[in-house]
Amino acid sequence: MRNLLSMEHLTNDEILEILKRAAEFENGEQPSLSRSYNIANLFFEPSTRTKTSFEMAERKVGCTVIPFDAGFSSALKGETMYDTVKTLEMIGMDAVVIRAKEDEYYNELLEGINVAVVNAGDGAGQHPSQCLLDLYTIHKEFERFEGLNVTIAGDISHSRVAKSNATALRKLGVNVRFLCPPEWSGEFEAHHSWDELIEDSDVVMLLRIQHERHIVNKSFSKESYHEQYGLTFEREARMKKGAIIMHPAPVNRDVEITSELVECERSRIFEAVRNGVFVRMAILETILKGRE
Ligand code: NCD
Repeated sequence: MRNLLSMEHLTNDEILEILKRAAEFENGEQPSLSRSYNIANLFFEPSTRTKTSFEMAERKVGCTVIPFDAGFSSALKGETMYDTVKTLEMIGMDAVVIRAKEDEYYNELLEGINVAVVNAGDGAGQHPSQCLLDLYTIHKEFERFEGLNVTIAGDISHSRVAKSNATALRKLGVNVRFLCPPEWSGEFEAHHSWDELIEDSDVVMLLRIQHERHIVNKSFSKESYHEQYGLTFEREARMKKGAIIMHPAPVNRDVEITSELVECERSRIFEAVRNGVFVRMAILETILKGRE
């Protein structure tokens, strides 16, 4: 694996290898890179978890993190993504982690760029590191994928998390179902009522309403969305024994989920953030080793 761009490029074996390595890191194993690599994180969209988690993982595998402030970079002067990344390569970067608002921005980096590229989210496209940490969290809980029922609920058409997870979970034998308002299903077939899904879901994965990607967003008030599509106390009480709640965050409390449920016994929302560091260590080590 030389880059991580989309879950569509990963085989099940490659996925399972990363999850296994992440578990070893969680159990205290040390990374085994032969030298310190230079990495820059180029975040052209806001981020709290993903950026900080990558930085933590980079330091933990022994990399040197070179600061890059996308908000003050020459991208604001119109420099292309290719020229930005080529410039960082010439300065001595070995890898770049990129989040950008254009879908598949990485296509312009496929030729002529020699640094490793890790996609930390492309528009409404893919978010492979989030997907891998979601897979890790699910596997840690159930020790299998085959036959699980995972319900992904919310802003499906704008969600790179939904797309990445649907691709990977289905390949791994999971029964993936979607729930959203009729106009938000995008390329997927979706349910529109929790009644058909809540009782047999092993995982309820909620997605943030992506206000920034809606051109017109007047179909719902927060209250009516919560009432029809949110995870309420009443719905949580109908979930089966052992079923878990996930959300990639940031959470709109009392919209996708009743605020008090964010840290309830079933919730793995913050636990997944913790898992993300081990998973990103595994991603970085795999890619950098693959280039040694
Ligand atoms: C997601 C993202 O940025 O794609 N968050 C994340 O990375 N944990 C989801 C979102 O923004 O809603």
